Amino acid sequence: MKNTLIAPSVLAADFANLQRDIEMINQSEADWFHIDIMDGVFVPNISFGMPVLEAIHRHAKKTIDVHLMIIDPDRYIKTFAQLGANILTVHYEACTHLHRTLQAIKAEGMKAGVALNPHTNIDLLEDVINDIDMVCIMSVNPGFGGQSFIENTYAKVEKLKALINRKQASTIIEIDGGVTDKNAAQLVQAGADVLVAGSFVFKAADPIATISNLKQLTQ
Ligand code: DX5
Ligand code: ZN
Repeated sequence: MKNTLIAPSVLAADFANLQRDIEMINQSEADWFHIDIMDGVFVPNISFGMPVLEAIHRHAKKTIDVHLMIIDPDRYIKTFAQLGANILTVHYEACTHLHRTLQAIKAEGMKAGVALNPHTNIDLLEDVINDIDMVCIMSVNPGFGGQSFIENTYAKVEKLKALINRKQASTIIEIDGGVTDKNAAQLVQAGADVLVAGSFVFKAADPIATISNLKQLTQ
């Protein structure tokens, strides 16, 4: 049986009730906390930074999956390790020396992830896939929650899964953006291992039941 992981994106939480929303995730069937860090340069939005992540880490009882949407992420690898990140994902488009960046993330004891924008071709990972713990396929253009899912994502997931198998890599596949109960099962069928869900979880009348439902749909 497949254990698909569900990672609610804290970007969609109520920041005035952040502790309440973190406890909700702790008590739910969710597997990870997905944390979106934006710099207003790589993406046209600024989310939150280190003090907020530090506060989240104090209460979060599950794996912390940090998605960096920032240029030159090498500057902050050590900092995010100290802040409690278990997985640190950088953008392919933001790294000139991606191989070096991945080694630096692992040297700090974290799992290394690479995110791809919707326009970035899977083939570009061919020579580095065996060094990547997780590929995050962006199913929206990064920068904002609540956008609609890009249908071409299914084909990208299948292509990435084939590359991982061909290279005998142990890389897992995460999908980020516009995930709902309408696309979750098909994404898992295509090869996804982790589903990030922001608005779909936090805007729901009953987030705990919504997470449970997503979990059931994807096993
Ligand atoms: C987008 C972020 C996503 C976002 C997902 O730039 O990387 O993690 O929070 O939100 P939804 O699920 O609302 O598309
Ligand atoms: Zn994200």
